[in-house]
Amino acid sequence: MSSRSPDPNRTASTSGIRREPFGTTADGRAVERFTLASASGVTISVLSFGGVIQSILVPDRSGKPVDVTLGYDTLAEYEKDKSYLGALVGRYANRIRAGRFSLDGRDFTLAQNAGGNHLHGGTRGFNKAVWTVEPFEDGDDLGLALQHVSPDGDEGYPGTLRVRVTYRLTTNGELAIDFSATTDAATPVNLTQHAYFNLAGSGSGDILGHVLELNASRFTPVDATLIPTGELRSVRGTPFDFSTPETVGARIGEDDEQLRLAGGYDHTFVLDRSAANELALAARLTDPTSRRGIDIYTTEPGIQFYTGNFLDGTVMGKGGVPHRYRSGLALETQHFPNSPNEPAFPSTILHPGTEHRSRTVYHFVVRD
Ligand code: BGC
Repeated sequence: MSSRSPDPNRTASTSGIRREPFGTTADGRAVERFTLASASGVTISVLSFGGVIQSILVPDRSGKPVDVTLGYDTLAEYEKDKSYLGALVGRYANRIRAGRFSLDGRDFTLAQNAGGNHLHGGTRGFNKAVWTVEPFEDGDDLGLALQHVSPDGDEGYPGTLRVRVTYRLTTNGELAIDFSATTDAATPVNLTQHAYFNLAGSGSGDILGHVLELNASRFTPVDATLIPTGELRSVRGTPFDFSTPETVGARIGEDDEQLRLAGGYDHTFVLDRSAANELALAARLTDPTSRRGIDIYTTEPGIQFYTGNFLDGTVMGKGGVPHRYRSGLALETQHFPNSPNEPAFPSTILHPGTEHRSRTVYHFVVRD
């Protein structure tokens, strides 16, 4: 499948960074919004609240920009959000069984905020923090450096964790996200960006017709509470085989135990890679009608593919359009769920004196 970056000549726009107030949280914290408009025609807006990517405008072949990510218009809605729309997620993205793990002989108990398990950092994860944001320009790149300090004991986690995330938008239509963190006591760390995509446009319908390709020959099957069983199972001959392009909806309704347990796709795929920690292609997503696409590259070992099975149309999104069942999908680059309790999974433990680093790139393209 050939593709190219959006054509700047068709999408003449004023490039640069705009900074504006975005209201005050219920507990009095001031929030700002930053809009990065690149010469590629891709424009993103980011909130200091949760490091949320509120909108991503991507042109199609004719230059028509559409917002391809789910979100809300107001801060109050982001404060209430339970779907992690567009947010930075931590300390531990995804689930930890019963919110319990032991480390160096000590037992830790985390917030149990999802059916008895710990999900996405707890009841007040990084998605509810107001981050310190510094805009920067580097050559033609437009960027934001976000910082957050998570205190010792935050949601039950050990150690003070200093987190830095940068969003960098290139003139080529790439959004590069760099995560880094340091700690003063050993702690699990698993950071991700939780954007939901709908390449036909947020609010335009479901994502079942999107075409997906995943660079993964195995996935992590789950139990009834969505905790991985520990097995890394081959996708071959199952509805989880996206090693060649397939529409998201082609097999989602099949009578398959794993699809039944999760109510659709809500699983981590184990990325095939020749070297650990190398930036490699993980996923290619395409809306066949507009031909908009995203190529996702990451240094992470896994990607959570979630088809918005818990969106039920009861919560209004941007422009008053409800977030309907499967109206967006998430492709969250990360380590495997429940790794602190699975010694055979790649480790997520960060030790003092070392630095956690990971990179994910979303390349927004128009397919030929
Ligand atoms: C998880 C889902 C969860 C959702 C919350 C996703 O990352 O995989 O199970 O319900 O986040 O919005």
